Amino acid sequence: MDSNGNASVNANAKADMKPKFLQVYDHLKAEILADPAFDYTEDARQWVDKMLDYNVPGGKLNRGLSVIDSYRLLKKGKELSEDEVFLGCVLGWCIEWLQSYFLVLDDMMDGSHTRRGQPCWFRLPKVGLIAANDGILLRNHIPRILKRHFRTKSYYVDLLDLFNEVEFQTACGQLLDLITTHEGALELSKYKMPTYLRIVQYKTAYYSFYLPVACALLMAEENLDNFSDTKNILIQMGTYFQVQDDYLDCFGDPQTIGKIGTDIEDFKCSWLVVQALERANESQIQRLHANYGKADPSCVAEVKDLYRELGIEDVFLEYENTSHKNLISSIESQKESVQLVLKSFLGKIYKRQK
Ligand code: IPE
Ligand code: MN
Ligand code: MN
Repeated sequence: MDSNGNASVNANAKADMKPKFLQVYDHLKAEILADPAFDYTEDARQWVDKMLDYNVPGGKLNRGLSVIDSYRLLKKGKELSEDEVFLGCVLGWCIEWLQSYFLVLDDMMDGSHTRRGQPCWFRLPKVGLIAANDGILLRNHIPRILKRHFRTKSYYVDLLDLFNEVEFQTACGQLLDLITTHEGALELSKYKMPTYLRIVQYKTAYYSFYLPVACALLMAEENLDNFSDTKNILIQMGTYFQVQDDYLDCFGDPQTIGKIGTDIEDFKCSWLVVQALERANESQIQRLHANYGKADPSCVAEVKDLYRELGIEDVFLEYENTSHKNLISSIESQKESVQLVLKSFLGKIYKRQK
């Protein structure tokens, strides 16, 4: 029970929000399908309707729900108005839209097969390369939504600037992720931790961790310049999250994570291969060279065997515990309300299986 007697409201903040959050999705979709800037044909409207339903709402929704969750905690348990809840949900959906835009294109570039338990959008026979334009459309929906719901707010310019900057950083991270594989193909030993950390900071951490909290801070009329330490902690958390993603790509259950890993086939500078290279002897490095980055399932299996031989699963468990401890101690340097925001976010991902 907090000082306002709001025990149940706060304890169930996340569980309570999901139905409301999903209602706001329907509302935003209806607005997009009636955007006066485009004279929709019936076919175009149907396409976008299906494309949105297929790609936007089917994930864990952690990023989106974190906006309203964070905003509530920043408001220290004060009851939020209907309007505040709605706007927090709208911002949450803008992040989910950004994510689906990046994922539609990421799956094409990574040659992935499944996402969120269904075929990747571009794998549908009627879609194919049209998915590239669908990615662009998803990206364009974000400023449409922001303009409609936030243009009169004092923080509107900051919000646009935030989304632009984070999108830019993510696209640059994707660039690094993709072109680093050329380096790796030439010389696998180029895959070292600093290279890895730079890729994941940009491709994942800004949009997945900093962006939701920054949105909540802007809604609470805070100046983001005063939260550079908070930002650094969120980048650390995002790094930890991508290490988990890399681990699950290889060792996770595809049924649970909803996607089939492709990092080994794709020659990715994954956390696992960086760790393996640090620990391998000459002959093991030869085996990695011979089998990494090949589509042949027996090569993939050989790489996984090597990871097991090198005890990479235990290295990961150790990493997970250490980074959790380090994150908690960094978080404790923050002011109370921000601590709650960061701990809540960390709690959603610690030891995740999906
Ligand atoms: C992509 O990282 C991050 C972005 C989409 C920006 P990954 O390529 O590792 O993501 P998954 O594993 O396909 O989801
Ligand atoms: Mn991918
Ligand atoms: Mn991945």
